[in-house]
Amino acid sequence: VVKPDVKWLGTPINELKRMPECGGPLPPLKDVPGQHTVMIRTDLLQNGKVPVPYPAKFKDTWDDVHVKMPCSSWNLFPVQDEFCGKTTNLNRSLALSKVLEPDAAEHLFDSLLPDMVQLALRASELCTKPIPLLKRGMNHSITMSQEQVACLLANAFFCTFPRRNSRRTEYCNYPDINFFRLFEGPSSRKIEKLKTLMCYFKSLTEQKPTGLVTFTRKSLDKPLNWKRCSILTLSQTRLTNLHITCEGTIEDDGYGMLQVDFANRFVGGGVTSSGLVQEEIRFLINPELIVSRLFTEALDHNECLIITGTQQYSKYTGYGQTYQWDGSHQDTIPSDGWQRRCTEIVAIDALQFKNFLEQFRPERLNRELNKAYCGFARPEEQSKNLAAVATGNWGCGVFGGDTRLKALLQMLAAAEAGRDVAYFTFGDSQLMTDVHKMHSFLTQRKISVGEVYDLLGQYYSSVCKSCLGRRPDVSLYSFIYQQVSSFLAPDDSDRGSARH
Ligand code: AR6
Repeated sequence: VVKPDVKWLGTPINELKRMPECGGPLPPLKDVPGQHTVMIRTDLLQNGKVPVPYPAKFKDTWDDVHVKMPCSSWNLFPVQDEFCGKTTNLNRSLALSKVLEPDAAEHLFDSLLPDMVQLALRASELCTKPIPLLKRGMNHSITMSQEQVACLLANAFFCTFPRRNSRRTEYCNYPDINFFRLFEGPSSRKIEKLKTLMCYFKSLTEQKPTGLVTFTRKSLDKPLNWKRCSILTLSQTRLTNLHITCEGTIEDDGYGMLQVDFANRFVGGGVTSSGLVQEEIRFLINPELIVSRLFTEALDHNECLIITGTQQYSKYTGYGQTYQWDGSHQDTIPSDGWQRRCTEIVAIDALQFKNFLEQFRPERLNRELNKAYCGFARPEEQSKNLAAVATGNWGCGVFGGDTRLKALLQMLAAAEAGRDVAYFTFGDSQLMTDVHKMHSFLTQRKISVGEVYDLLGQYYSSVCKSCLGRRPDVSLYSFIYQQVSSFLAPDDSDRGSARH
């Protein structure tokens, strides 16, 4: 039974850890060849001051391991295409001017667009260091200033990145970066997206941001063997704390936590075209995220992208078809020792399921567990310094996954990573009740990660396999309740304390 006045269950959210309070000391910010590319002068970094690009002079590179820059002397952009791009841009800008108030339209043409052109043209002055492509399998970070990000995004807006207007070329395994799709077709949703992005550019030209942003591509060197982990180690790991709520969002209520981006393997998904769900919305309100599309090759099964320090510039209402820009947002999140806002977002792409049963196959379970674990785990940090994971129905909207299964998988991955979980059910109070009940059941009986994993395997072999394509008669959660209750006879129910 769902009580309508109950809005959250489990651990109170204020008892979960957030950054910056929970964080350990940061090492000095340093460029480390092959590991961390830092595009600014770290010795001159000063709170409230715009960071100074490094090196002083533009290093012109044109190869297959770095971003090809619009300002490169090798960039021989066909004049004809350039012309086409400009006219499309202009048409859309005109369309935008129709939906704007006259004052705003005037500002757009007289001030904002010219300022954006100036910003885009500063690429060789601002982005002097070649930007490495974050390719498959690489463990590498890039730290750049918000001003450098802005310059790159202005170029994306004007579609100036060479070799990036067709996906048939060398960049076929990269997301689109040039915004040309945002300017095509009559779509009121695209207008709302453009309003959101223009709010960002407007804010930039009014006040230069002074922070840094880090983009880290990370792969799991050895995928966990969740099965063997349960047999060999007797699966010591227990579930961590869970706060679950049917109200609020990851971005608003999960501030300071590790915030999950329900990603596409091409990070940002349809943000520069027509997509408008969780990932795209996040990339619109925190547009600095979009620049990751410039250099992040499609994520592999064991990889994630972590983005630290982006700023929220816009508010929004609605979702999907009903999305609307809702004015500018003042971001008051404090900064860390590297002058980055304490907003850490992790892009993890779930699998897309067309067939319900498919997601219960052991190899699919492993894939999703390892993907989430890759996103959540920070082996170099102590568990006490790790903020909670702020997540929700990952993979369960567009990607068609089962919320109850995914909630459980994310709880297992978070437990292995040593982090608590804040779970936002996005209005679903039944889900809140069900997941909370399962979490309490498992923790009270001291059922470990490995044991839950075994139960998932049993569910597949004894229920799903014999379903012949139909939906299973027994739900995953009922199965778990039955199994655990039958192997824990009543007089055995304190086995947790006896065994551990
Ligand atoms: N906070 C918490 N929960 C949310 C929020 C939010 N701000 N927004 C949505 N939800 P979906 P997927 C819930 O469909 O299935 C994109 O195009 C809400 O219940 O975005 O992993 C990507 O680029 C929603 O139904 O994620 C990928 O291509 C659910 O989260 C693809 O979608 C899932 O959101 C990923 O699809």
